[in-house]
Amino acid sequence: MARKKITVVGAGNVGAHTALWVATKELGDVVLLDIVEGVPQGKALDLMEASPVECFDSNVRGTNDYKDTAGSDVVIVTAGIPRKPGMSRSDLINTNVGILKTVVENVAKYSPDAHLLIVTNPLDVMVYAAWKFSGFAPNKVMGLSGALDGSRMRSFIAMELGVSMQDVHAMVIGGHADEMVPLTRYATVSGIPVTQLIAPERLSSIMERTKKAGGEIVALLKTGSAYYAPSAAVAEMCEAIIKDKKRVIPCAAYCSGQYGVDGIFIGVPVVVGSGGAERIIEIELDSAEKSAFMGSVGAVKGLITDLNLDK
Ligand code: LAC
Repeated sequence: MARKKITVVGAGNVGAHTALWVATKELGDVVLLDIVEGVPQGKALDLMEASPVECFDSNVRGTNDYKDTAGSDVVIVTAGIPRKPGMSRSDLINTNVGILKTVVENVAKYSPDAHLLIVTNPLDVMVYAAWKFSGFAPNKVMGLSGALDGSRMRSFIAMELGVSMQDVHAMVIGGHADEMVPLTRYATVSGIPVTQLIAPERLSSIMERTKKAGGEIVALLKTGSAYYAPSAAVAEMCEAIIKDKKRVIPCAAYCSGQYGVDGIFIGVPVVVGSGGAERIIEIELDSAEKSAFMGSVGAVKGLITDLNLDK
């Protein structure tokens, strides 16, 4: 069986670490692309030189030329500027939409059958823009949101309880922004609802911390945003596609009526497999969850309208 080909666009912290996870998981051969000459080549070579120690046989190649990405099965887009302290993800919109347009048009030209996984912020809007710029079917375009936000929430719950991360499950839906919706009601430890294990006020502070978790890292790093968890989470999505795992992962996917949302991408639970976003699972939301979710939908729609991509 021929190896799969995975392109990572952007050789910054998120891109380089994504290449690392994808290569060590042996999901396929990796092409790391960036506009800066030498950086993707250098990081790719450095990763290849780690392969004998870590025993992976993925080839990792760095390039500045989209021709080298031709025929990719999955393209992960991390290109764009990250937040600085005090910025919200939506402050990045004008710069990043320009970068995304160039990237996605080139990706679509050389890999018309690829799955697109978008990491660039503001996330849900960039996924919508990537869909428009690529002309791809909506199931082949997804964005990193709940896989990351859910992982953060899981880590906070596990730390709170002193239990294995492995046993904690949590779902975060809505936009990848401060209006995201952590569903504490559905979080469990080995099937035990966390509402039975953690007091309401502690749970609500975990929920608040989850919403602001990206900003917490930005404030600490001061020079950029998080990259270990974002790269690990998008590699998990890539793995679900490559191995056709049918994982249930909350991510930004195209809604066509589910949850009362039509025609935009927003974080919802998705069955992810070789067909990309194969199916959206509609779970029951109580009135508070529903109104938080719709608030998040409204914020994403507002940003999409401001961008005026449909003109
Ligand atoms: C974060 C960025 C990747 O949440 O949006 O850290």
